[in-house]
Amino acid sequence: MINWKESYDIGVETIDCQHRQLLVKLNEFFEACTNQKGKEQIEETLRFLKEYTLEHFSSEEQLMVDIDFPELAEHQKTHAEFVQTVLELEETVKTKGVSVLSTIKLNRTLTDWLLNHISKCDQLIGDCIAAKGKAV
Ligand SMILES: [Fe+2]
Repeated sequence: MINWKESYDIGVETIDCQHRQLLVKLNEFFEACTNQKGKEQIEETLRFLKEYTLEHFSSEEQLMVDIDFPELAEHQKTHAEFVQTVLELEETVKTKGVSVLSTIKLNRTLTDWLLNHISKCDQLIGDCIAAKGKAV
């Protein structure tokens, strides 16, 4: 279970809320895997995670368009890669299910990606908005 830390906030309320929610979905998925909740439930939590991820990425990308974010294309690319990872995971769960051991590895990979992405890439969006705010 990974808890949100205030240092993950990028200073944009809607995005910070969505990131918190994303972490909740991620935790729910891992919890279902760790407790070996059964394929259907694991698939369901993963579907929620996927849907929320898509929703969040699209609203974050819209925000980047709105603020003329200079690194939009690169940022979109990293989002697309993550979506691809989630889609592959969905396929793996469907065909093979998930073991406790693979859950630990998966948990580390996805959580590391998310927290790393938030603190490195998404933070730049917050910085961009803050800089523009000062300029106005
Ligand atoms: Fe992002």
